[in-house]
Amino acid sequence: MDLRLGVPAPATEQERAAVASVLGPAASGWDGGDRTPADGHMAVGGRAAREQRHLLLPVLHAVQERIGWISPGAVDHICARLTIPPAEAYGVASFYALFRTEPSPVAVVHVCDDVACRADGAERTCQEMERRFGPEGQGAAANGSGVTWQRSPCLGQCDHGSAALIQHAGADPARVVLAPFDPEQVRAALVPGTGVGSGGTAVPQAAADRSGLRLLRRVGQVEPGSIDAYRSAGGYEMLRRAVTAGPQGVLRELKDAKLVGRGGAAFPTGVKWEAVATNPVREHFVVCNADESEPGTFKDRVLMEQDPFALIEALTIMGYTCGARRGYIYIRGEYPIAESRLVEAVRQATDRGLLGADVLGEGFAFDIEVRRGAGAYIAGEETALFNSIEGKRAEPRNKPPFPAASGLFGKPTAINNVETLLCVLEVLRIGGPAFAAIGTANSTGTRLFCLSGAVRQPGLYEHDFGVTLREVIEAAGGLRDGRSLRAVLLGGAAGSFVGPDALDVPLTMEDLRVIGATLGSGVVVVIDDTVDVTDLLVRIARFFRDESCGQCVPCRVGTVRQEELLGRLARGAPLGSVQREIELFADIAAVTRDASICGLGQTAVSALSSALSLNLVGASGQADGGRGLA
Ligand SMILES: Cc1cc2nc3c(=O)[nH]c(=O)nc-3n(C[C@H](O)[C@H](O)[C@H](O)COP(=O)(O)O)c2cc1C
Ligand code: SF4
Ligand code: FES
Repeated sequence: MDLRLGVPAPATEQERAAVASVLGPAASGWDGGDRTPADGHMAVGGRAAREQRHLLLPVLHAVQERIGWISPGAVDHICARLTIPPAEAYGVASFYALFRTEPSPVAVVHVCDDVACRADGAERTCQEMERRFGPEGQGAAANGSGVTWQRSPCLGQCDHGSAALIQHAGADPARVVLAPFDPEQVRAALVPGTGVGSGGTAVPQAAADRSGLRLLRRVGQVEPGSIDAYRSAGGYEMLRRAVTAGPQGVLRELKDAKLVGRGGAAFPTGVKWEAVATNPVREHFVVCNADESEPGTFKDRVLMEQDPFALIEALTIMGYTCGARRGYIYIRGEYPIAESRLVEAVRQATDRGLLGADVLGEGFAFDIEVRRGAGAYIAGEETALFNSIEGKRAEPRNKPPFPAASGLFGKPTAINNVETLLCVLEVLRIGGPAFAAIGTANSTGTRLFCLSGAVRQPGLYEHDFGVTLREVIEAAGGLRDGRSLRAVLLGGAAGSFVGPDALDVPLTMEDLRVIGATLGSGVVVVIDDTVDVTDLLVRIARFFRDESCGQCVPCRVGTVRQEELLGRLARGAPLGSVQREIELFADIAAVTRDASICGLGQTAVSALSSALSLNLVGASGQADGGRGLA
């Protein structure tokens, strides 16, 4: 197999060093090192190189962080090191939005123009970026500034009104998050040593009344960088309790609690863990899904930034219960602070014997690796996430087999969302039956709500299941400036719009199902009468078109057709008539929803479907003042 790309120039010393920083030095000429006379007599290292195949994403990150893009020479060298075909490596590098395969300035500013920021004037911010740094995506050579910028889907900072992520390559690379974001800040943020930054944490409820807080209990109260502070606040008592109860005892508590996943699919957690724990095939893996890319969602970021040890403890309990020796936290690449805090938490836990060969001195081994994503919403789909950890394009797999039978590396795997794992700690703290008594009979426990948009106090809120939308909005201070409510986007881009008549529906899985809505990942984007809903819908349609992995036709084509159709409606230029467009959309929606293989395609049409039925789609690109199509 010829692994060369036919590259104009081989990998530079800097690129080779970046690759070696992840893979270690090359052992021979066979894996990209210097050729020695011994290499002419025998081939070595093939198997070892293939075993490192899963490190492709970390290697690509290392190269990009060093030189700002992934050159053909670097890809060629990586292929030699990992013995993979160049087409495959290039296919991976070009799949993820945070990787660049064309020469690029060392600084790239990703400006969020997604649903929540949009309602707060993201378009004006983008215009100002264009004025300062030239058109979106323009290379440094053209604009001479050393900076390029591009629009970005949601950066998970929706409570701040505007947000940007700066990737800065070099010997001292940085990822800087600015939220709220002002283009004025870009230059200062590029000063070396600025490191990671953030808009901080908005948990307004905690300032007012902490009494209802369970998952957010420690946020803002316990120093997130110190394992001692965490332990003083009761940390690691639940791991001890889990070990005392044994795997069966933990499973019983989870089932008694009727805990279901908070990542969107609402699958019973105890059932999932049991399927892995009892699978005779070895080895087992546990994974925390911290990809959090649903527009409007930021809850997992707050938990990871402010309470990282809780996630490490919960994942350790999951590993213990499921019989896994290794756990992964897959975190989106746009969360530098959360990532650095988790890496530090793993280090401190390992130093204290709370991870490693003999956890708590109880004779079980467990390690955690934090893996960084690279900008792909679809990587949050569980099987796509496994592919990404394995170093592949984040394309969903067909199910069955389900992860409990064949997940990461083809082995039995349990995967849960960050919030779900924090619920596990609460289940063990108060006991399964007590947890089941919170909320309603079928939606138990508390839920985190990501409030953004037209409320006075955007931020993260925790309420018992069964709270109404009205109460959630009131807890966030109600609507700004005496505005009136037009709609709420529930569940994010993959969720749906509900109108003011849904204000008193209890927010439970069963009640929302009745009105055709879903809580999804807890997104509540409040939309007042000043917001142009059509403009939001156009952005949502573009999001799905961009994020569809393209693997199956109904989704790949359906998301494009949806965007085109909406564009025509927004311009007031329907094909035939508005009625004909609505009928056409019904066809597109039915096929995309029913024939796509994963949840992305199945939900890509929900927002527009619900907006049409609420008559929220206007005939112009400007605020339509509630006119609608009808
Ligand atoms: C397109 C798509 C994106 C998803 N993104 C996420 C995500 O970012 N975080 C998450 O926890 N689950 C996400 N999910 C759901 C996961 O596939 C999976 O159901 C979840 O991680 C299971 O954890 P849970 O049982 O704790 O909810 C996504 C699903 C789809 C279809
Ligand atoms: S539904 Fe869309 S995102 Fe999911 S596998 Fe098919 S093309 Fe990919
Ligand atoms: S950070 Fe802009 S919409 Fe979420």
